[in-house]
Parts: sequence; C-alpha cells; structure tokens
Amino acid sequence: MKGSCPKHGFQLPNKPEMLEKDQKMDHSNRWIIKTRREQPDLGMRFYPQKKRIWAGFMFEDVISNKYWNQYVNETYPDFQQYLLNEAGDPIAVAQALPLTWDGTMAGLPVGWNDCFLRAAADIEAGRVPNTLAGLEIAIQPEYHGQGISYRMIEALRDKAREHAFQAVIVAVRPSWKMRYPLAPMERYIRWKREDGAPFDPWLRAHWRSGGEILKIAHPSMLIEGSIEQWEEWTGLMFPESGDYVVPEALVPVNIDLDMNIGRYIEPNVWVHHPITTKRLTPPQFT
Ligand SMILES: CC(C)(COP(=O)(O)OP(=O)(O)OC[C@H]1O[C@@H](n2cnc3c(N)ncnc32)[C@H](O)[C@@H]1OP(=O)(O)O)[C@@H](O)C(=O)NCCC(=O)NCCS
Repeated sequence: MKGSCPKHGFQLPNKPEMLEKDQKMDHSNRWIIKTRREQPDLGMRFYPQKKRIWAGFMFEDVISNKYWNQYVNETYPDFQQYLLNEAGDPIAVAQALPLTWDGTMAGLPVGWNDCFLRAAADIEAGRVPNTLAGLEIAIQPEYHGQGISYRMIEALRDKAREHAFQAVIVAVRPSWKMRYPLAPMERYIRWKREDGAPFDPWLRAHWRSGGEILKIAHPSMLIEGSIEQWEEWTGLMFPESGDYVVPEALVPVNIDLDMNIGRYIEPNVWVHHPITTKRLTPPQFT
C-alpha cells in the first residue's frame, strides 16, 4: 500500500522492508539502552555531546527551558533513553514525554514546545497518558551515519509499547532543512529522491521506520532573545533590522533593532508512529 498525504497531495512509494535497517544494526548486541531512571548520571554525561550537536540558539526555547528539568528529568526519567557503547559511555539519546492525544490531526499538540504544556496539563488534570511524544534524538557526531537513528526511533516505539501507549508522535526537525532555509516547509516535505523516498534524511528515517508524515507543526519552537544574545548564539552581527539566514536555523531569524529582539519561530513536521495495530482514528487530512 502506498503512503499518501491527501492534504499535501504527495504520494510515497512502498516502504522497503526493514532489511537496510537490520543490516545497519549489527552493533545492537554490543550496545545497550539504559534510562535516566536506571542511571541518573546519564543526562549529565551526555550533555557535552548535546553542546557539540546543537547550535547555541537551540537551547533557548522559552517553554522547554521552563519545563524540561521538572518533567523530562524529574517526572519522567524512565522515558529518557541512552544508548551506551561497549565502554558504557552514552553515545545517543532518545528523549520523550508521555501525554494524551485523541488520535486526530486537530488534537495534536501545536508543535514541539506545546508537548511540554500538554504533558503538564495532563499531569495537573490527572489524565493517564496514551501517547509518547518524542522530543529529541541526538547522536554523538563520531557515530553518525551508522544507522543508530533507527535504533533510537525503535527505542521510542519500544518504550511506548512497554507502557501500552497507542502511538508515538514526533515533531520532527528535518535535518537538511537548514540547507534550504528559504524553502517553505510545506514544499520541502514533498521533496523526494529519485527512488521516491523522502528527500530529507531524518524524515526518511522516520518514514522507513513506519512513521506517517501528518502535517506541518508550526509554531514548533519559539526562540527570542536580545540582539546581543543572538550575536552570541550565532557568532553573527546584525547591523540592521530584517530577516537573516542563520547557520543551522531551518527558517530565517527576524531581527528588530528598534525593539532589541530577535525572533526565531521554527516549523517542524508531525510524524505519527502507530503502536497499536489499529489507529486511534484515521488521520484527517483536512
Ligand atoms: C539526525 C540524526 C539523528 C541521524 O542519525 P544518524 O545515526 O547519523 O543517521 P543514520 O545513520 O541512522 O541514517 C538515517 C538516514 O539519514 C541518512 N544520513 C545520515 N547521515 C547522512 C549524511 N551525512 N548525508 C546524507 N544522508 C545521511 C542515512 O543514509 C539514512 O537514510 P537511509 O536509511 O535512507 O540511507 C543525527 O545526524 C543527529 O544526531 N543529528 C543532530 C541532532 C538532530 O538533528 N536530531 C534530529 C532532530 S531531534
């Protein structure tokens, strides 16, 4: 059966069976997954890798900075999974928050940072989560290109199964969008390779793993700071007001010198990994 997205009108070809993924996972017996609950120091030990992986401004989303420690680290350490190499060093992470989702397009969180608000509201209301929202998969740069991302996506799915959740949802940050910051995301997610697979490597990895591309998640992250902060985060100077292409940003950053504010609103892409054999409800591409 072909995957399709009626809203955006693109067709995806048959998904290849998991052969490529299995071939790439020959390290699976040697490397093990441990959670932050099992080894509370893993977060701190992997943090230097995060500083290498992410551009400085990516640590500045206002909502996630407010809630990350409380919910990700303290409330839900079992959902923070680290891949350890033979030496026991963390080389990759898959982070997630449980929340409730009604299975509809309209019921999705708005974007990445809304997952924190939704998880917080669920806890406040005493609702039992039925969905795992992936927040971040990051791999130590020396281990890129070895298929580890597939293992970390699978770790999210396994964790959801373990807790009898019905779905994994991820506001995916397409990894090559930063090379095309002026292309509208709506168009970018339709780009395909010659073999018909999604052009973007990270969207492709989700798709190969069984994920369905649902819709644009926008706004997904909101990063605001003074001009001085943006200069520090990016190493650039912003001599006048306007939109700037900034390294590793998916879309331009707006700089307003009069207001002394730089604003970056990042769009992502909602991907749904069904966990139960039956979808919660069919996606509604309206
Ligand atoms: C994005 C990321 C998780 C991918 O992990 P990875 O282990 O390096 O990727 P994999 O080896 O599993 O490959 C996944 C797909 O990307 C492709 N890919 C990986 N590195 C690539 C590269 N340098 N150039 C082109 N394609 C590449 C692979 O070919 C594969 O696609 P395929 O199966 O169709 O061949 C990793 O690069 C990373 O941590 N990046 C920084 C953090 C990030 O952007 N995280 C995602 C958002 S939360």
